[in-house]
Amino acid sequence: MNEYSKELKQGNHKIAFVPTMGALHDGHLSLVSRANEVAEHTVVSIFVNPTQFGQNEDFGKYTRDLEGDMDKLSPYRVDTIFTPEAKDIYPENFQTYLEVAELQKVLCGKSRPGHFRGVATVVLKLFNIVQPDFAIFGQKDFQQLKVIERLVKDLHLGVEIIPMPIVREKDGLALSSRNAYLSDEERLKALSLSKALSSIKASFQGGCKDTGKLLEEGLAVLKNSDVNDIDYLEIRDSENLELIKTTQSGNLVAVAARIGNTRLIDNIIL
Ligand code: PAJ
Repeated sequence: MNEYSKELKQGNHKIAFVPTMGALHDGHLSLVSRANEVAEHTVVSIFVNPTQFGQNEDFGKYTRDLEGDMDKLSPYRVDTIFTPEAKDIYPENFQTYLEVAELQKVLCGKSRPGHFRGVATVVLKLFNIVQPDFAIFGQKDFQQLKVIERLVKDLHLGVEIIPMPIVREKDGLALSSRNAYLSDEERLKALSLSKALSSIKASFQGGCKDTGKLLEEGLAVLKNSDVNDIDYLEIRDSENLELIKTTQSGNLVAVAARIGNTRLIDNIIL
C-alpha cells in the first residue's frame, strides 16, 4: 500500500483517504463521494480494528462483508481498497500506542476505556501507510473527529481532515453499521435518540438556554420510548468537548444509549 501510494503521488497527484471498518452504508459512501471531489486518487481502508473494541464489545460479531462492500464502492472512483490483516497492523511484540490525553476522557471515552487509544493508534498507522493529503471523517462519530483533528495538529501530520455531516434515514435515524443488529421493535426505540436531539434543538431555537432544562426534555423523550439504558446525554463545547454552563449556538448535544444489546450514538450541533 505504501509503495502504491508513492506511485499514486507521482505527478503531484493528491490522495484522499476514507478509513472505515466496512459494513458500508450511505454514510460511508458520502465520505467516498467527497474524497472523489477533493483529490485525483481515493483510497478506502476496511479494517475492523481490534484495539478499539473493549473485551465485552462486538468485535467478534461486527459485520464483515468484503464482497458486499466492494459492490457498494463500485460506482465510485476508488484506486485501492486497503484491507490489511490484524497481524500486519499489530505484529508480534507491537507495543506503541497513541493517546489524546484530555479529549479521550469524556463521553464515549469514559464508558469505553481504551477505545480512543485504539482509534488514534490505528488512524496514525493508517496515515503513515497510506500517506494521504486529505482524510474524510463523519460527524456521526463527533468525538472521534475531534480526537483525530487534535492528533493531526499535535503531531504535525500535515493531513487535511475533512468533516462530513451525518447521513440519516428519512425518519431521522443516523445510519450506522450497528443498526443491522436491531430488531424492528428496537429500531423504533432507536429513533428516540435523534428525536431527543431534535427536540432539544427545537427548544433551544425557541429560546431555552438552560442546559439542565434542555437535557431534561431530551431525557423525557428517551424515557417515553422506554430507552432506559442511557450512557450519556450531554451538551458540550464542540471544540474542546468541555461542559458548558449556558447553552450556546454551536454547542454539541451528544447521546449514547443501549437499545437491547446494541450501543448507539448520535449528536447534533445547535
Ligand atoms: P466506521 O464506524 O466504519 O466509520 C467510518 C467513517 O464513517 C467514520 O468517519 C464515521 O464517522 C463515518 N460514518 C459512519 N456513519 C456515518 C453517518 N451516518 N454519516 C456520516 N458519516 C458516517 O469510525 C470508524 O469506522 C473507525 O473508528 C475508524 C476511524 C475506521 C478507525 O478504526
